[in-house]
Formats: sequence, structure tokens, C-alpha cells
Amino acid sequence: MAQEVRGVIAPGRNEPVRVETIVVPDPGPGEAVVQIQACGVCHTDLHYKQGGINDDFPFLLGHEAAGIVESVGEGVTDVAPGDFVILNWRAVCGNCRACLRGRPWYCFNTHNAKQKMTLTDGTELSPALGIGAFAEKTLVAAGQCTKVDPAVSPAVAGLLGCGVMAGIGAAINTGNVGRGDTVAVIGCGGVGDAAIAGANLAGAAKIIAVDIDDRKLTTARTMGATHTVNSKETDPVAAIQELTGGFGADVVIEAVGRPETYKQAFYARDLAGTVVLVGVPTPDMKLELPLIDVFGRGGSLKSSWYGDCLPSRDFPMLIDLHLQGRLDLAKFVTETIQLDEVEQAFERMHGGDVLRSVVVF
Ligand SMILES: NC(=O)c1ccc[n+]([C@@H]2O[C@H](COP(=O)([O-])OP(=O)(O)OC[C@H]3O[C@@H](n4cnc5c(N)ncnc54)[C@H](O)[C@@H]3O)[C@@H](O)[C@H]2O)c1
Ligand SMILES: [Zn+2]
Ligand SMILES: [Zn+2]
Repeated sequence: MAQEVRGVIAPGRNEPVRVETIVVPDPGPGEAVVQIQACGVCHTDLHYKQGGINDDFPFLLGHEAAGIVESVGEGVTDVAPGDFVILNWRAVCGNCRACLRGRPWYCFNTHNAKQKMTLTDGTELSPALGIGAFAEKTLVAAGQCTKVDPAVSPAVAGLLGCGVMAGIGAAINTGNVGRGDTVAVIGCGGVGDAAIAGANLAGAAKIIAVDIDDRKLTTARTMGATHTVNSKETDPVAAIQELTGGFGADVVIEAVGRPETYKQAFYARDLAGTVVLVGVPTPDMKLELPLIDVFGRGGSLKSSWYGDCLPSRDFPMLIDLHLQGRLDLAKFVTETIQLDEVEQAFERMHGGDVLRSVVVF
């Protein structure tokens, strides 16, 4: 029997989001229905609302979520009703060319639920990132559910489902930050701060936080930044070089997604260093660099999709480190809100007032 629950939809380009009744089908083969306990508000939800991702309105928003598996469909063996899970948008297929080469963190054919959630009039909904978790319950592919230790608070756990994992993974998976490295992070929102926390966890010796907002730099310090640079006032490339013996950082992580900040990252790294682009640009943006500098400075220029994470490997590990007191993920939750407060949370996010607002159920 399909169920009716409350969920937040984006009805059309730039229209305010609203709470509607959502019809959630029973799980079919390979699917699961999850009772959502918490879901963070991410910049990508705002991009969906603004039509910046695609035009498949109406969207069922929300994708940084944790909850309890309520029911599973035929053939599901990895999770069972009652399991506490974080939802992910990389349910690896096991069969695509990336998976077959043993690189499932690039999986090109990730799974989502086959059936559609709808409005009560039958209108099909597009769930954000194949999740749609600003809802009391949601339908996903069972592979999108990753079991973690239920001792963690759901509001904290859910954040690993997207932005915080993207940032931590940009440092530890893509950037391969190691003990003693110098790291600079440009853009200290939720993703950049997570990159700082990741670099700290990996043993970086110096972590330089760069932002244009002093409030963000203050928070970055609490995440593990050893130095801060306000790039509105100071040239960040010169400042990073000065802080690293005149050379530049071993790894520079760009967590804004703009050509000018990418250029800063490119020139602020040491020779043979690494640039990691985790910020997401818009399709109209262009980058211009002297090719001789790309060659002459050597090293690697990488992009990080979802922190090159493997949910089954990384989520339980990071939750365990959090529970042991070695990775404070609770600092990312600025406020908890109700389902009907998502629109206001977007405004606060836009104004730079919050790291993460989290809807709790
Ligand atoms: N690669 C992925 O898988 C992935 C996953 C989630 C989010 N993201 C992307 O990461 C980026 C950051 O997300 P977020 O949630 O942290 O956003 P956010 O808005 O919370 O943070 C952005 C930060 O960048 C700062 N900033 C803006 N312009 C700047 C400039 N010119 N120089 C320095 N700092 C500047 C802002 O002050 C803010 O602190 C976004 O582009 C988002 O889409 C990527
Ligand atoms: Zn695959
Ligand atoms: Zn997200």
C-alpha cells in the first residue's frame, strides 16, 4: 500500500518551495522506503529550486539525510527494516567500466529507485540527487542506504551524505593529503570547512583557510585551520606563498567553484603540487591559463566528485571516528529546523549566516 507523507517540493523555477502531500509507493525489487530522521539543507537544493541543475520540475528536495529503513523490496539483502542508515547518491552498480576497473568511487551508472514518488494528483516528482529527503519518508534504491553506528545523532550523520563527505573526501581521497603536508582551502562554507577537517584528520602540518567573509574564517579556525587569509583584503596567492616558505601549498582545495578562485588555487600551490576542484562551476564559466604554466608547474589538477567517496567504506569509518571524539562533525550543524522552514533556511544560507541548517523530524 502506497503511503502519504509530507514533503518539500520546488514547484517551478525560482518559485518558493512548499510542503505538499507526497505519495510514496511500497518498495519494489531492489528498493527501500526510509523513514527520514534528519536532512540537511545544501547549496545544491537551492540550485535545483533555481533551475540550475535541470528543468525536471517539480523536485522533491533534500538529499543530506539519515533515517531508519522501514521496508525493503524483493531481493534486498544488504539492509533490513530497523537499520539506521545514511542515504548516498553513489549506489555503485558493480558493472560499469569504472566499477569493473576497481574504481567504484567513479561509478558511472549509480542506482536510484525505479518507481516514482508522486503528488496526490499523480504528478511525478524528481527527487533531488535521486534521494528527495525533505520528506517524512522517501523511496530509494537499497544501495543508496549505508548502515552506520546508530549511536550517532541523525542530524550529524545525514551531513555525511553530501557536502561534508565531499569536503573531507576532497582532502583525504582526491587530494591525498598526508602527514606534514601544507594545505590551503579556498572558500570556507560547509564543503571547505569539511576539507579543513579532513586535512586536519590526515595530519597536515599547516592548513590555510581563505575566504572573503571574516565570520567564515573564524569558524574555519575551529575546524582545524592554522592560518586564515581574507582574500578581499590580501592577495591570497602571495599570502599562501609567504606562509609556506615562499613556495606555495602542497595541496590547494578550491571549494567555491569559480574561475578566479580556481586561478588562485592554481598559482598558490608549490611546484608539482595538487589542485583539487570540489566547488561546482556553472556551465557558462570559462578558465584561461597560460599553457606553459600548466606544463611548467607540473603536479596534478584534479576534480573531486562527492569527495571520490565510497559510501560503504567511508561513511561507517567517519562516523566511528566522530563517535571516538576524533572528528567533530557536530560543529557543522548550525541550527535544526522544521520541514516548513526550508525556504527561510535558503535565505540564511545565501546570506552566509549558516554552515548547515538541518531539518529534523
Ligand atoms: N564536488 C561535489 O561533489 C560537491 C558536493 C557538494 C557541494 N559542492 C559544491 O561546493 C561548493 C561549496 O559548497 P558549500 O555548501 O560549502 O557552499 P557555501 O555557500 O556554504 O560556501 C561557499 C563559501 O565560499 C566563500 N566564497 C565565495 N566567493 C569567494 C571568493 N571569491 N573567494 C573566497 N571565498 C569565497 C563564501 O564566503 C562561503 O564561505 C559549491 O559550489 C557546491 O555546489 C560540491
Ligand atoms: Zn558502476
Ligand atoms: Zn548536497
